[in-house]
Amino acid sequence: MRQAGRYLPGYRAVRSVHGFWDVCHSPELSTQVALEPMRLFGLDAAIVFSDILIVPEALGLGVTFGAGEGPQIARPLRTEADLAAWNTRGMDERLAFLPAAVKHLRAALDEQIKDTPALIGFAGAPFTLFAYTVEGGGSDDFKRARVMLHEEPALAKRALSQIADFVGALLVKEVEAGADVVQLFDTWGGLLDAHDYATFCAPLVREISDRVRKKGGRVMIFIRGGGHLLDALAGAGVDGVSLDWRTPFAAARRVSSDWVLQGNLDPVRLFASPERVAEATRAMLDDMKSSSGGRRVIANLGHGIMVGTPEASVRAMVDAVKAARW
Ligand code: CP3
Repeated sequence: MRQAGRYLPGYRAVRSVHGFWDVCHSPELSTQVALEPMRLFGLDAAIVFSDILIVPEALGLGVTFGAGEGPQIARPLRTEADLAAWNTRGMDERLAFLPAAVKHLRAALDEQIKDTPALIGFAGAPFTLFAYTVEGGGSDDFKRARVMLHEEPALAKRALSQIADFVGALLVKEVEAGADVVQLFDTWGGLLDAHDYATFCAPLVREISDRVRKKGGRVMIFIRGGGHLLDALAGAGVDGVSLDWRTPFAAARRVSSDWVLQGNLDPVRLFASPERVAEATRAMLDDMKSSSGGRRVIANLGHGIMVGTPEASVRAMVDAVKAARW
């Protein structure tokens, strides 16, 4: 949940001399920024430093991050011709920097961080990548992408399924490189109703999960605002579900007694005092325990750490989790 990022001084120092894509593309720099929160907070798991938009970037769509305006995609998907122009050959080679970063980070964790933390790999879920790709950047409602699902379902389905193919291949490579678990980020999946999620997304999540699990990997999915989609996810073959701050543990446990559940402290809570953060964390842990059904759970935030979050709050949250008697 963006445990490395702009709220940390070491990350900002690296970014003051290197471009964002340069950090992603260099296994050394990617590892350096991924290790910073591990050293500062004693977290149990590291996440490889990268971005979900590496897939549209590798397809040749021209992804940039303008100052304060979020991602921009120079060649958005609007027509059949746009899809035909995707540079689909050699994707493995163009994305090889990510498994390389996973491998590099795995070795650094083993050598430098005590208690051998787990390593999380990730990719964007097909709908979220499709949404950015069609929209040409960020949006509040991704209306253009959602309209395409209904106005041109054949084109949308072809694009979604190509994206899913590349995402599946990438996650398999991350697992082979040493990721213990991979997470699909479906940041915008919650915009869809349950019927559309079941129609356009869940079968692709299933395909991706099957591929990864066949290689011995484990898959989690995070759908921001996805509380109404838990039933649609039930047959999607994932090992775990990461809940956003508005989705209660009990709601997910009612749908599946097998899922490992992760979540779900509101990142805004980290702007309160360390004492309040510790209290809120303990309340979350009580909630997790009472609704766990005896299954494993992972304490985390319910979305990414926000810029400006005090380090003391992150530390207070981690310490409260570690001090808890389970
Ligand atoms: O958690 C981690 O430490 C791993 C790194 C990570 C990043 N992006 C680094 C990043 C992860 C897991 C992501 C995923 C990601 N990227 C998502 C899904 C998760 C979520 O937050 O819902 C999404 C939607 C993106 C797309 C994206 N990339 C956005 C919206 C932005 C911010 C643009 C802006 O200017 O505010 C990025 C860029 C990005 N990815 C940054 C980081 C640290 C900031 C870039 C910078 O250094 O300027």
